[in-house]
Amino acid sequence: MNNAVLEAVNLVKVFPGSRKGLVSRGSDLTAVDEVSFSLYKGELLGLLGESGCGKSTVAKMLMHLISPTSGTILMDGEEVQNLSESAFRRRRRQIQMVYQNPFDCLDPRMRVRSLLEEPLKIWFPEMGEQIRQDRIHNMLKECGLPGNCLDKKPGEFSGGQLQRISIARALLVEPEILIADEIISALDVSVQNQILNLLIQMKQRHHLSILFITHDLSVARMVSDRVMVMQSGRIKGIGSPEEVFSNSADPYIRELTEAVFTLS
Ligand SMILES: Nc1ncnc2c1ncn2[C@@H]1O[C@H](COP(=O)(O)OP(=O)(O)O)[C@@H](O)[C@H]1O
Ligand SMILES: [Mg+2]
Repeated sequence: MNNAVLEAVNLVKVFPGSRKGLVSRGSDLTAVDEVSFSLYKGELLGLLGESGCGKSTVAKMLMHLISPTSGTILMDGEEVQNLSESAFRRRRRQIQMVYQNPFDCLDPRMRVRSLLEEPLKIWFPEMGEQIRQDRIHNMLKECGLPGNCLDKKPGEFSGGQLQRISIARALLVEPEILIADEIISALDVSVQNQILNLLIQMKQRHHLSILFITHDLSVARMVSDRVMVMQSGRIKGIGSPEEVFSNSADPYIRELTEAVFTLS
């Protein structure tokens, strides 16, 4: 019907009894409130919003890590939100995620060689050893990593290098969709652009569709083909960066853009 690789329709996530207030017993917290969007083949869709607005909760639902309270998630048009873990398995390789903190996906006790071999062994068990090593070497090169990094452990790398390793690990299994959740937020400003450039390069080379999550409006505006703005669990606007940031009717988005212009 269309070329959406991933769709969210009226996604809702309520955390029961999690809302903090004056009463000691918490009431329900609606972290994600009727969120709908499509991610198209080959696009980088930015998800911009302040800390706590529900961005990571959306990501976790898309990754099948937590289940939505209601709403629909479609991959290539197939409803997946209610699939069992085993039924979702054939979809899991297609959607990979890179996190703000590399240690969330890179076990600090493992050497980089094993960290990169592991997903290939899981998803391509029939792959021969030589092909596996070739794939890893090619991916290292694409990600700007030296070959001698294979014998080291995560603790021996800088934050920027670790994000390169995380990206390499996610892309080795040839996903169609990449979710990047605040992947430059913990990095020095000087390396942030290098990682963004790598991401955009890899998007083109591997025809990826990327959901790029950030709290930084300038970054969202710079990298996104389309962008959506989230506030308190709701999507306040979606479109090209020009559409969304230059002439939004939404007061919250106007406030955000005016704040950035005042600063810069
Ligand atoms: N497992 C959970 N249980 C209860 N509340 C949660 C849970 N995960 C997230 N939240 C709450 O949901 C809201 C959205 O969180 P999150 O999606 O992590 O926001 P963001 O990624 O935009 O910073 C926050 O108020 C957070 O405290
Ligand atoms: Mg988050």
